[in-house]
Amino acid sequence: EAGVRVYDPGFMNTAVIQSNITFIDGEAGILRYRGYPIEQLAEQSTFLESAFLLLYGELPTQQQFKLFEQEVLHHTYVHRDVEQIVGAFRYDAHPMSILTASFAALGAFAPEANPALAGQKLYSSGTTEALAVMDKQIFRILGKAITVGAMAYRIRQGRAFNAPPSGLNYTETYLYLLDHLNEPNYKPNPVIAKALDILFLLHADHELNCSAAAMLQVGSSLADPYSAVAAATAALYGPLHGGANEAVIRMLTAIGSPENVPAYLEKVKKKEVVLSGFGHRIYRTSDPRSKIIRKTAEEVFAVTGRNPLLDTAMALHDAAISDEYFVSRRLYPNVDYWSGLIYQALGFPPDYFTVLFAIPRVVGWLAHWRQLMLQKNGVKIWRPRQLYVGEGERDYVEIEKRE
Ligand code: SDX
Repeated sequence: EAGVRVYDPGFMNTAVIQSNITFIDGEAGILRYRGYPIEQLAEQSTFLESAFLLLYGELPTQQQFKLFEQEVLHHTYVHRDVEQIVGAFRYDAHPMSILTASFAALGAFAPEANPALAGQKLYSSGTTEALAVMDKQIFRILGKAITVGAMAYRIRQGRAFNAPPSGLNYTETYLYLLDHLNEPNYKPNPVIAKALDILFLLHADHELNCSAAAMLQVGSSLADPYSAVAAATAALYGPLHGGANEAVIRMLTAIGSPENVPAYLEKVKKKEVVLSGFGHRIYRTSDPRSKIIRKTAEEVFAVTGRNPLLDTAMALHDAAISDEYFVSRRLYPNVDYWSGLIYQALGFPPDYFTVLFAIPRVVGWLAHWRQLMLQKNGVKIWRPRQLYVGEGERDYVEIEKRE
């Protein structure tokens, strides 16, 4: 039995799809979206333009981008019902994570929840009509992602909705909806908006990571994309994945100062704690995104003031990358190591950091989902096998006869 299938726990070495979306070379530290190096996109593109590239395979013409941006921003405007939906998750006794609340609320917009639509093979038929319906859902999810994310944040602060003004780009609209500094007539600072746009672009996709795999596992059963996004969000939330940016801040706060770094590293070597923000399943050298984020941090701190945790973060980074324990295991900083320092300097609370990861990553999830729906020989449900190592056949024993 075992001979007929490969046993590969954690999918360390299993390719389950063919994809032309994102390319990673973990040895060389290369990341490309549809062939374009991440460094060039971070430098010259915007998050929403790169979103178009990831979804549709080519950089948009001016006309294509204008239409795409209009469609997506149209769906960011605020419904009263968003307040009720997101508000419903605000159960103070055991507050659900703001990430789960936000993205579970997204599911309320699933048109498939409408019985008239449910059960149809809406997306995988590949017809022109299905493509139009699919793209409309993609625009809605991209637009609503910033609305639910912002509203969950505002509701927690007891603040009502605010409709975004026109003339702002996607990331500026998000900052405006958040109005996270709660200033009257808040206008996004251009340096901050640009820095967040670069962070969004860097987080947009990363081939078949844990949450993208969750998106496709659920999508392969032809569930609607809103439910698949909710599943992907749940996967992202874990501290081994997108939750690491929050874990890094908690780790740096616990370490307290550069002097305490050696003691912390000793605990890591004894495997009592994990070095959050370090290590990666694919990168065996520095994550190319972390270098760009490190540079962006300086630009943000020039506006917000230096994050006091930066000294500890730099001391920990410098100690770890020259320590045999980490070098021998090829552990380097990943995308989550520096991003939390920026989000904190921008005034976001740690439990909001993974929302800031989820919002851009919705693009990658949807790009992979669209690719799955349109794959040539139709959608096959994902149903991995196992190796059974349990009991052989045995007979039932009445409870009185069990000792
Ligand atoms: C993201 O997949 C993606 O692309 C994810 C992501 C994306 O964009 O989608 O890039 C985003 O999730 C980045 C990773 C964020 N997570 C963290 O920073 C959490 C800390 N990192 C580790 O948990 C770990 O490195 C993982 C989960 C990221 C990767 O784990 P692997 O590939 O399963 O590696 P492993 O656990 O087999 O580790 C190999 C060795 C082990 O030691 P030994 O058993 O050989 O003695 O390295 C050690 C591990 O103990 N190790 C670490 C470590 N990471 C690995 N030791 C201390 N601290 C760490 N961070």
